[in-house]
Amino acid sequence: MAQLSVEEKASLVAGATFWKTAAAPGIAPITVADGPHGVRRTPDSGQDFGLGESLPATCFPPATGLASSWNRDLVERVGQALGDESRAQGVNVLLGPGINIKRSPLCGRNFEYFSEDPIISGELGASYVRGLQSRGVGASLKHFAANNQETNRMTVSAEVDERTLRELYLPAFENVVKREQPWTVMCSYNRINGVYAAENEWLLTRVLREEWGFTGLVVSDWGAVDDRVAALRAGLDLEMPGPVADSHAALVAAARSNARDEKHLDTSVERVRRLVTRSTLEKGPDFDVDAHHALARSAATESMVLLKNDGVLPLEAGKPIAVIGQFARSPRFQGAGSSQVNPTRVEPALDALMLTTPVEFASGYSHAGPDEALHAEAVQLAEQAETVLLFVGLPEGDESEGYDRTDLDLPAHQVALIQAVTAVNPRVVVVLTNGGVVSLEPWHDSAAAILETWLLGQAGGAAIADVVFGSVNPSGRLSESIPLRLQDNPSYLNFPGDLTTVRYGEGVFVGYRYYETATLPVRYPFGHGLSYTSFEYSDLEVAKDGTLATVTVTNTGAVGGKEVVQLYVSPPASDVRRPVRELRGFAKVWLEPGASTRVELALTSRAYSYWDVASSTWVTAGGDYVLQIARSAHEVVLEATVTLNDSRPAEKLTLESPVTAWLQHPVTGPIFRRAAGGDVVEGGANVLDMVGSMSMRRLLRFPDVPVSAAQLKALLVAANNPVVRGIARVVGRKRG
Ligand code: BGC
Repeated sequence: MAQLSVEEKASLVAGATFWKTAAAPGIAPITVADGPHGVRRTPDSGQDFGLGESLPATCFPPATGLASSWNRDLVERVGQALGDESRAQGVNVLLGPGINIKRSPLCGRNFEYFSEDPIISGELGASYVRGLQSRGVGASLKHFAANNQETNRMTVSAEVDERTLRELYLPAFENVVKREQPWTVMCSYNRINGVYAAENEWLLTRVLREEWGFTGLVVSDWGAVDDRVAALRAGLDLEMPGPVADSHAALVAAARSNARDEKHLDTSVERVRRLVTRSTLEKGPDFDVDAHHALARSAATESMVLLKNDGVLPLEAGKPIAVIGQFARSPRFQGAGSSQVNPTRVEPALDALMLTTPVEFASGYSHAGPDEALHAEAVQLAEQAETVLLFVGLPEGDESEGYDRTDLDLPAHQVALIQAVTAVNPRVVVVLTNGGVVSLEPWHDSAAAILETWLLGQAGGAAIADVVFGSVNPSGRLSESIPLRLQDNPSYLNFPGDLTTVRYGEGVFVGYRYYETATLPVRYPFGHGLSYTSFEYSDLEVAKDGTLATVTVTNTGAVGGKEVVQLYVSPPASDVRRPVRELRGFAKVWLEPGASTRVELALTSRAYSYWDVASSTWVTAGGDYVLQIARSAHEVVLEATVTLNDSRPAEKLTLESPVTAWLQHPVTGPIFRRAAGGDVVEGGANVLDMVGSMSMRRLLRFPDVPVSAAQLKALLVAANNPVVRGIARVVGRKRG
């Protein structure tokens, strides 16, 4: 450090190009590339985003698909393969995974994110990072934080209360940071409660480093820095891309005039140096293109969710089928924007299906839009066919980084095609291609089966053939709810906000947490997904302290398959409003027909707690918690109860405490109630309830309250004495 000039230090904390860090004596440059679901390595000559010009790489299923697998091992294997490809291309840090919560189904970048649930996002995010970093390649966990929309993403302030941040938008990051220590964390573009993520000291230093113990480097999203010195002070180490002349000058001036800024700069330089030192591995050997394509295919088979099946699936190989829909011939397999990979090959579903069975094809529409002749030809084919596979989905331009969707609808001409085809043929399997959720209305009931394939990566076509013919039993589960109407989504009235602000008015009630609590019907709930076999659950056992749940799952059908065991916790009623159930654990298991296994799901105290704003800690309300094994967030199959003690700090009673607190207190409550002689009812109203929210100090101002200041003082001393309080609790309990 002593050998570096201030100018050199300021250069080191910014990129030297779009994709490389700067060099200095003793510090080599390193190369970064997008991510997340493939390596987007741009040519060294490139000095911009380089969209569309990257080296060939395997395009794995984007997060929206991978998340539906609920399979940690699979995601870890994809992470390892991404690590191998990164090394083969000389990439030291891969910019992924993206683990933001899907607050609204409209977010244009939902295809790059895992779930509406922080447990899934955090668990699968951790698996991804573990796999990638096991190959000596760093991850960049992004976009930290509250980047849940693309509209005005560069400026908008996400207005989120702290409990909601702690319970919904931060835990996935927390989980990955604490367990896997990603080499880097990428801050988001947006502001959080008024402060840019890049300049947010609370986020980047207090929470990320001091509370969670992050030891890596914080990098800006590309172009997310506004005020470089403020960002340095907040804990942002590396500005990308670079160099940025203004930032350099500002850093040099700040470090020269202010010892604290010089110290901040030294700290960030040290973190850059550590990152470079970690990136010592030589460029790796060429990766195995075929093996990675095969992995992309098996990942894709687990990424699909069979939403509906009246028995038409699986199809019998060798029997002729009609395939309709341009997506079958020219698939859309990833989203647009910085994550777009240049695939090593692409396998359309049409080709793969033809390898197994005689196929007649009609495109039905073109990617450019509706076409009457193609529509008519497709309907005619459907009329003659025994079974139809109908491919529909969102056009490429509908989903991208940088903007959001405005509705959930498939293009009108495709809905018309579904209606026309299902009107002439009862055996229609609708195969959906979309990154974010699409509406299944009004055609849902007319389809014999619906296969949600999301975006499946380059081997998706072959994977679709594997699943529809049953050589692979579908095992995907929804990692986000499919609502009946956009208006039902809890963020509906607050998405995407106005030019400057988006208010997270639904609080912690995101996705299924809202639908289940408000008992609002959805088309398919979070966690739903069908199989070609059936599973039964039995013998749920729960440790007394709530740290372990064990359940038996049995494959009761005729074929082998994978089941996703889902564990939810339903809290007791308390004075804090909580979702009726929240996912707290999951496991995926393979079972041969007739086989059973015991599945263990570990829980920590966090599974029961909520963020208490007053004490700035996680607390558990005392009471009965119901652990629920469920097929989805809506369908509970087994329950067991644990009773937990209250972990909330005893609130000190003062004259400012409301009357209710005095009445509920174990020491003062019984005394006051006795003094009042039970409920005081005047004119039909319960007087004690009426004044419940009034502070005791104010109540005493009423002329007829028969308590002296001295009596109250004595009561306060007794009430706040832990021994007296403890005795009063026990006596109270005994009296029942
Ligand atoms: C995106 C990041 C990406 C970066 C570099 C930004 O626009 O938000 O996710 O890693 O560009 O391409």
